[in-house]
Amino acid sequence: MEKFNGTAKSMMYDERCKKKAVSSHFPAIDFDAVADLYDSYVRVDFDIPFWLQESKVSPGRVLELGCGTGRVSIPLLKAGIQLDCVDYSSGMLAQFKNKLRETGLACPVHCQDMADLDLPDRYDLIFIPFHSFSEVVDSQRQRLTLERIRFHLSEHGVFICTLQNPFVRTASMDGTLRPIGEFSLLDRGTLVVSTCLTFNPETRIASGNQVYEQYSADKNLIDRRVLNVRFRLFPKNEFESLASGCGYTVQELYGDYQRQPFDEQTSPYMIWKLRSASVDELPS
Ligand SMILES: C[S@@+](CC[C@H](N)C(=O)[O-])C[C@H]1O[C@@H](n2cnc3c(N)ncnc32)[C@H](O)[C@@H]1O
Repeated sequence: MEKFNGTAKSMMYDERCKKKAVSSHFPAIDFDAVADLYDSYVRVDFDIPFWLQESKVSPGRVLELGCGTGRVSIPLLKAGIQLDCVDYSSGMLAQFKNKLRETGLACPVHCQDMADLDLPDRYDLIFIPFHSFSEVVDSQRQRLTLERIRFHLSEHGVFICTLQNPFVRTASMDGTLRPIGEFSLLDRGTLVVSTCLTFNPETRIASGNQVYEQYSADKNLIDRRVLNVRFRLFPKNEFESLASGCGYTVQELYGDYQRQPFDEQTSPYMIWKLRSASVDELPS
């Protein structure tokens, strides 16, 4: 793997990145199929101030896992954060690469499955934004992911893992097709996105699909895509014991991006701030 040269103006991008070669596991959500549409329908920025604050108080290097098209990465790079980025979708990374070129920003970008994370450096802050750890549905790979992340933390490094609160999130998973929204594609018309999800309380896996319909300016349907969606929701106690079994101790648990304490009945999110457990903190 090439080492990042801080003076280089262009980003580094592993052109050999091909998802099937990067991971032996088919993705739970194949974002390659909608990478060209992602920025048109994901326009939220509610979590950006949180990531800016966490990155600025971190003493050194920051690693973002599941960076996608750079929704979070670009504002951090603009703020001067020393950031490395990882994702296993070559399509999402291609969009990110275009944005880096357009903005004149640069950072090391690695096409890897986070369950097989293998980088030459160690980081003071590693984070998974937008609840994407849920896309690791296989329990063995969940453990591998947490272990590989811990291996890449510096001595006092912090790992922040964002998850959705199952108690709140499952309320809308009743098999009904629900609109997500209608989004302008400028000269390419309008994108209408809807989703239909069901939740299996035994496996704790949410599954279903997301439908993308593109209409021309004169309202003719010109493209329709259906993306299969699968992700795992973690109850608080389950994630805590998974993390503790992988050598972490909990530093903070927030219920939202304003750092309110987590409340199982009402908080939208679980934002876990973890660090490596010392020997006497490890479970016996
Ligand atoms: C919901 S998108 C979020 C993208 C971006 N972080 C954002 O906030 O808009 C989830 C991203 O995580 C990536 N991802 C999911 N599982 C991954 C894994 N095991 N290894 C690397 N990337 C993964 C997907 O390819 C996708 O780009």
